[in-house]
Amino acid sequence: MASTAVAQNGAASAQAGPVLPPNASRLPQTAQLDALLTIIRDTSTPRSDFIFYSDRIIRLLVEEGLNHLPTVPKSVMTPTGFEYSGVEFQGRICGVSILRAGEAMEAGLRECCRSVRIGKILIQRDEETAKPKLFYAKLPEDIADRWVLLLDPMLATGGSAIKAIEVLIENGVKAEQILFLNLIASPEGLNNMYTQFPQVKVISAWVDERLDEKSYIIPGLGDYGDRYYSG
Ligand code: URA
Repeated sequence: MASTAVAQNGAASAQAGPVLPPNASRLPQTAQLDALLTIIRDTSTPRSDFIFYSDRIIRLLVEEGLNHLPTVPKSVMTPTGFEYSGVEFQGRICGVSILRAGEAMEAGLRECCRSVRIGKILIQRDEETAKPKLFYAKLPEDIADRWVLLLDPMLATGGSAIKAIEVLIENGVKAEQILFLNLIASPEGLNNMYTQFPQVKVISAWVDERLDEKSYIIPGLGDYGDRYYSG
């Protein structure tokens, strides 16, 4: 009994959580989600489990992202001969992953949206200016007409995501058509994102405490790409 009470209290206090900028939201802070995150945060978790459990969180994030897309009424006939007044998505979507870690989120998007178009953006630090620089972008040619699910597992300073959003906007995407999905966000990254692009919706599984001096998220999970791709 005592341990259940502790778990429930823990979930409730996490639910109260940090105050987020108006464009940001978190997944429901359930004990299940916390358990999944606890596994992938654990430094002793082997790579295969890291992949399996972060894929589960990514699936939850994609499903939540789809909840934010507009729908229009649609009626269908059911096999009983009755009409059902339902809805369908209003527009088409695509994914854009920020390389390399964002690629890990592509499979989860494909599981929910069959044959979805997925673009890729590579941003790295410019050694001369120390600012994020675009190295490569391959985007669907009709991206301006689509809702964009921008994929990057960790929102640390927000530098790469902000640069990626600038690239999307240069390609005709409106800021309000972009949903940025990430597993763990820092308060600093969320605030930077809101300052630059208040219209971009940001959906995080969890919001952590802070960044350290090397811009790692604390407590975080370390380097997501290394843990997903190299073990
Ligand atoms: N990217 C990561 O993979 N981890 C962090 O903590 C910050 C950025």
